[in-house]
Amino acid sequence: MVIMTAQEQERLELQHYMLYDVTMEGELFLSPGGKHAKRVLDMGAGTGTWAIGYAHAYPEAEVIGVDLSPIFPEWIPRNVQFVVDDLEDEWNWTKRFDFIVARFLSPTAFRDLGDDHPSNGSSDCS
Ligand SMILES: C[S@@+](CC[C@H](N)C(=O)[O-])C[C@H]1O[C@@H](n2cnc3c(N)ncnc32)[C@H](O)[C@@H]1O
Repeated sequence: MVIMTAQEQERLELQHYMLYDVTMEGELFLSPGGKHAKRVLDMGAGTGTWAIGYAHAYPEAEVIGVDLSPIFPEWIPRNVQFVVDDLEDEWNWTKRFDFIVARFLSPTAFRDLGDDHPSNGSSDCS
């Protein structure tokens, strides 16, 4: 587990803008399913910047960001919820997600996606 110092959080922000602004030219995701999702999971949400950006862009979507570290901002859009949890622990989500995003996440945290991911859902991994 990485210790979330201010410097590490600054690095995550820089990494977000390098991927989002530069590489993806302002696109938050590549999967077409991201445009119509109603319930979205951001695995390993970090500082929450992606989840907040998505929530602003898609106000009808319910966005949930999960991370081991509580480094999310205090003021967040009403359609975002941040949860401190270990994605490698037992998966307790009962309501399914139709879009799952994992950016810069260790492969060990990718588990049971098949069971918790509806057949018409999609995911973006970068
Ligand atoms: C490199 S950061 C990427 C953060 C964010 N996705 C982004 O794009 O800025 C990886 C994040 O995954 C979180 N993480 C790693 N393993 C995790 C786990 N098992 N459960 C929950 N969060 C985890 C870390 O705490 C860290 O915030």
